[in-house]
This record gives sequence, structure tokens and C-alpha cells, in this order.
Amino acid sequence: MNEIFSPAHKPVPHESAARHAAGSALYIDDARQPEGLLHAWVITSTRAHARILTLDLAAVRAAPGVVATATAEDIPGTNDAGPILAGEPLLAERVVTYAGEPIAVIAATSLAAARHAAGLAAITYEDLPAILTIEAARAAAAYVVPPMRLERGDPDAAMAAAPHRLTGRAEAGGQDHFYLETQIAQAEPGEDGALHILSSTQHPTEVQHIVARLLGRPYAAITVEVRRMGGAFGGKESQASLIAGMAALLAHKTGRAVKLRLVRDADMVITGKRHDVQARFEVGYDDAGHILALDMEIALRAGNVADLSGPVLTRALCHADNAYWLPDIRVRGYACRTNTVSNTAFRGFGGPQGIFAIEAAITHVAAALGKRPEDIRARNAYGPGRDITPYGQPIGADNLPRIMAELETLAGIPARRAAITAFNATHATIKKGFAVMPVKFGISFNLPSLNQAGALVHVYTDGSVHLNHGGTEMGQGLYVKIAQVVAQGFAVSLDQVHVSSTRTDKVPNTSATAASSGTDINGMAALAAVETIKTRMAEIAARKLEGDPADVVFADGRVFVGNRSLAFKELAQACWAERVSLSATGYYKTPEIHFDQASMSGHPFYYFAHGACAVEAAIDTLTGAARILAVHIIQDCGASLNPAVDIGQIEGAFIQGLGWLLMEELVWDADGRLQTHAPSTYKIPTARDVPPVFVTKLLDNAPNAKPTIFRSKAVGEPPFMLAIGAWLAVQDAVANASSWECALKLNAPATPEAVLRALGK
Ligand code: MTE
Ligand code: HPA
Ligand code: MOS
Repeated sequence: MNEIFSPAHKPVPHESAARHAAGSALYIDDARQPEGLLHAWVITSTRAHARILTLDLAAVRAAPGVVATATAEDIPGTNDAGPILAGEPLLAERVVTYAGEPIAVIAATSLAAARHAAGLAAITYEDLPAILTIEAARAAAAYVVPPMRLERGDPDAAMAAAPHRLTGRAEAGGQDHFYLETQIAQAEPGEDGALHILSSTQHPTEVQHIVARLLGRPYAAITVEVRRMGGAFGGKESQASLIAGMAALLAHKTGRAVKLRLVRDADMVITGKRHDVQARFEVGYDDAGHILALDMEIALRAGNVADLSGPVLTRALCHADNAYWLPDIRVRGYACRTNTVSNTAFRGFGGPQGIFAIEAAITHVAAALGKRPEDIRARNAYGPGRDITPYGQPIGADNLPRIMAELETLAGIPARRAAITAFNATHATIKKGFAVMPVKFGISFNLPSLNQAGALVHVYTDGSVHLNHGGTEMGQGLYVKIAQVVAQGFAVSLDQVHVSSTRTDKVPNTSATAASSGTDINGMAALAAVETIKTRMAEIAARKLEGDPADVVFADGRVFVGNRSLAFKELAQACWAERVSLSATGYYKTPEIHFDQASMSGHPFYYFAHGACAVEAAIDTLTGAARILAVHIIQDCGASLNPAVDIGQIEGAFIQGLGWLLMEELVWDADGRLQTHAPSTYKIPTARDVPPVFVTKLLDNAPNAKPTIFRSKAVGEPPFMLAIGAWLAVQDAVANASSWECALKLNAPATPEAVLRALGK
């Protein structure tokens, strides 16, 4: 009984697991097609930077099946889809700024007709000089937001005084989100200029705002709905608005429902990715390996417009400490404007780039001192008296010492190290490497105003519960976790709680489901709504059961006063009969947080999520191929709301991180055209890349020190960065095969070619 009625902290399945497996979970492309639905296609720039001299769509419009085309001139409102800054056109006006930029859209009676017609567009260009790389943008001082600087102490003096100094650099490539469901939206006109949009978006409210801006309509006229996404990973945080915007523009122009679904190649060319990064550093250190001074530059390739690059860079700078005490530090950040697709949010949101940079710097120090990198990591760990981040936030409750100690046992670290040394001594071609690495990740949007959420809960008179909240489901298990919260709150069974699609007309003014905070903020909002309804229900229960409202207890699907009780459903009926409202909204804002962007200081995160991994890798020195042989992870999920979902998140994040660091390589040609826009040329991890030993453990007995929802901790992004440990293990294998001098040349992704290059082959 208790099992069923208190589902919080239980490993219950994802709410759609059975439907995912059976194929009955509906995605937007499966939605019932409205009468007269049109299919859209996008005409894109073939040039990285050019003036559009002529744009002739007559042949497109004359093609069979084509109903309408639209260009920037057809936008009735403002041609701007920028999520934060203005000046980010939905459709190019006179100039194109990346190869793949949308110029016009077509609506036709079938996808094939729209696609065929696109080939008939006659566009002439006059090429302009293009900036394609981070180096070129740095040389031209071309940035999408002003350079940033995070500084503490006196890094110059500390550097000058340090016993040793070194300089180094490290680079990591970008990453395509490769969500299985490509970007999609379907817009359907209603009465009086209203528009209903199904959008595969993490941020329905932003889609609503941007569509309203494009069409010159009030927000209230636009309703955006999403039941689930087939993966998002940050790729649908801001950029889903572009897809919805184009569908909405065509729906507005034709007065008919329009669906725009990007095929994989178009999705990869048109939409942004993880920012590739170049880091340079100077480190001052002592013989023991204490880092005394750090002067670092982090340059991200932002692409043609800002999109979310400002907050991504801020998060990169605020993670350049990872889990280390760096007393005197300066980190400069550059969001480089290039004539390539606008890079965007991607799991970790700059955190991976910042952590990658400091881990590379630590390896340099270890190599210079001839010590193990893990020992340098341990030496520089945060601890008592050395527990304030460079941006001034105290670390607070720190579970990392316990995690590192437990990992030592879980992974059998000393024995493993000895075995690897023995293996390398007796094998010439295959060489193994090992790494142990902690991760600290800040939880909250780094823009404090975004940390708010709302929910709407109804109890019906049969005792069933309708749940709605501002968060979106992208596979991460948010819906089941919030349903667990509501079921726990009412002490009803999980089956009684019906989750419903996220809609801007049910819960307004929401934030993106992002920054790993979906459960934290929507869970608290839903619980607030539950508490409001319970307070009202308790009044009636007290009357019926002849007790005091303060003594009413909800448990086991019933409501008790002492040993007298009513079924939850009977109480719901009684409330209705007494004319008591059984519907409530709930609201939550994260306490304590603040951040001053100008000085880059404050308390941007409510708390930190910690984890650590031990990774064993092997490289084949003839082919350069790397394999991850064993991974042990301990992740702190607080009092996990759902251990099954959380372990899935950790495993998925780690494997996605492996893709970023070991195999996924984006290649642009000399003219700025993406060459890798399909799985044939872009290699993502598959089941074969899952390490044969893959042990994931949640830190036990670790309720969040902050009063988060049932003392749980966020999990969506933090474990992604553990995969940097896999890259470090490959780097270690390269060092074992040749030298640290070679190993320090390795960049990410550590593809076979990159490993061979580092080995000097
Ligand atoms: N897990 C799945 N299956 N699919 C996704 O798209 N996105 C990740 C993470 N886990 C994602 C995922 C990202 S980038 C974030 S920010 C969080 O989920 C968002 O959801 P949450 O805040 O509910 O954890
Ligand atoms: N994560 C994700 N999205 C965001 C953030 C963040 O920290 N800040 C602003 N948008
Ligand atoms: Mo996640 S990158 O914050 O959507």
C-alpha cells in the first residue's frame, strides 16, 4: 500500500516508457493532420557571407503543389528571432551571414513538392569576406557580446611570485545535438488571428513571444503546446523558435495549417550546435603542484549571431575552476562572431568548455612536475578555508571528499593502476591509460530572473488529478518526476495523476526547461498548488470527520483524522458538494541567488551538483582507435526523486559526452559549408561504444542541504562533464605510448586521426 501511495524516491518507470516502446507515444509529426495541412521547406544560403543581389522565386511559386512562398518582406511584424539580443533575423534580408541561413520558406501540398520546388529558386550573390574560425574572429576582434573577465585576487603578482610557470593551450570541437526527432513545428490558424502552434521546444513561452513579434500579434493570440520532444539537449532551447516562426509565417500568409519538419541534413546545416572552444592558459604553481595563479582565455565560436552565447560564455567562465581552489585567477572570455551557424545551448551550457580548459591546464602542470594528474587534482581540491569560487560564491555543502573516497573503493583504483602499468609493460601496440576526475556543476540559470516556475493542478470528483506545469518533457523524465511529487503530496497512487502537455495558455510566462533545473523549479511549483488544494480539502475533511483541520492527514489514498477516514475520492466529492474549489495554480522562485554580470560576481547557483569518475581507456597505436574499457561513476543526486531515471540520465549524459570528446567531428570546408550533416559522415556513439564495464552509483544518504523538492538534486547536465575523464584517460594512454610532450598535443575530439597525430604518426 505504502509503496503505491508514496512514489517519491522510487524507481518508477518513465511515464511514457511503455508508449515509447510500443510506438504509441505521439510526437508532433504523428499529430492528427488538420484539414488542408501544408508542408514547408526552407531555402537557405549557399554562401557564408554575401550580399543577395537577386532573389527570384517565380519558378518556385509556379512549381506543382506550391501554395505560397515567404521572404523577409512577408513578415508583418518584426523580422527578429533573437532570444536575448535584437538583430537576429528569421529570414535573411539583404545579406546572408552563414551557409545554411534561411532566406525564404515554401508551403506546398506535400513535403516532396516543397522540397522539389526549393531547387528552382534563382539567387545571385556577391561574396563578402567571411570570418570562419575562432582565430580569424579574434584577429578581427569580432564578437557577438563584449569580452568578459572574471578575476579574483592579484593573478599577475601571484604569477610573478610562483616558483614555476608554464603556458599551454587546448581545443575542443563543437557537437551536433542529434536529437532523434529533428526540429519541427505545426502552426494552425484559429479565429480572429489566433494561432495554435505545436512546437518541439524546450521553451514554449519564448516560441510564443517570438511568433507574436514576427507576426505583430499580442502574446495572448498565440498558444504554444508541446507534449514531448524526441530529445532536445539544449538544441531546442532557443532555436525551436526559428522553426515555429517559419511555420507560423506561412500559416499566417496562407490561412492554412502548416507543418515544418527539418530533415536531418537540413537540421544539421540550419541549426546551431555546441560551441567549439580554444583555451590558452598560463599557470603559476609550486613543487607540490598547488596552482597559485591562473591566467586563462576561453574563446568560443558563437557563429553569426548572439543567440544564447552570452550566458553560455558566462557559464564557461564560472566553471573554469571546476572543483579546484584557484586563489589568484583571471579568466577572459570571448564569444567569437563567425560566418558559421549560430551555436547555442547544449547540455552543460558552457560548463563543459570551462571544465575542459582547467582539466587540460592541470594535466600540463602534472606533466611538468612528472606527477600523476589525479594527484594534482586532489592537491587543488576545494576544502575548509579554501572554499569560495572565483565569482565569490561559497561552495557550501561539499560531498566531493566523500565521493572521491567511495570512488577509490568502488573502482578499486590502486589495483587498477598497478594492472594498467603491468599491461603497458608487456604490450607494445595497445597502450592503456587511466584518469580520475571530479565535477562540480552549478545549479540554476545563471540569469537569476529565469529561475521561476508555475503549475496548474485540478482534482476531479472521482479523485483523479490533472497535472500541468511549465516544464517540458524531452526524454529526461521530468513529467514522471513531477507526477511523483503530486501523487506523494496528495498521497494518491501515481496512476491517479494524469500529466498533460505543456501549454502557454495553461501556465504562462515560463522559463525554458534547461539548466537542469526543470524538476527543481516545476516540482516546487506543483507542490505549492497541491498544498493549496489540500488546505481547502482539509477544512472539509475536518468537518466530515469531526476533527481539526490541523490534524488532517493524507495517506494511502485516504484522508484521516485520528482513525476516522474518507477515501480521497469521497473527500473530492464532498468538497464539490460544499462548493470548494479543487483547482489551484502554484508558483516557485529559487531563493538566495543573485549575480552581477558586469563584475561577474555573486551567488548565481542555488547549490552545486557533484560527481566523479574513474575511467580506463586503451588506444591502438597503429590505428589510433581509442576504446573506453571501464567507467565507474558516483553522482550526487541528493535524495533522488527517481533513481531509475537518474541513473539513465547519468549513463546517457556520459555517453553523449564520449561522443563530444572522442568521436563527433564537425568539418566545414574552406567556404564555410558544413561537410558533416548526416550520420554517414558524423559519427555519434552507438551501443558498441558503451564501455563493457559501466558502473553508475548514486551517492547514498545525501539529501540536499538546501530545501529543494524532497531534497533531491538536479541531474540532467552535471554527469555530461564526467566524460572529460574519458578524454583524460585517452590522453594518459597517449602519454604511456609515447611521452607527455606528445599527449599534451592531443585535442578533442580524440578521433583516431587525432590520436595518431598526437603520437607523431
Ligand atoms: N535527457 C534526454 N533524454 N533528452 C534530452 O533532451 N536534455 C538535457 C538533460 N537530459 C535531455 C536530457 C539537458 S540539456 C537539460 S538542461 C536537462 O535534461 C533538462 O531537463 P531537466 O531540467 O528536467 O533535467
Ligand atoms: N542554462 C541554460 N539556459 C540558460 C542559462 C543556463 O545557465 N542561462 C540562461 N539561459
Ligand atoms: Mo540544457 S543545455 O540547459 O537545455
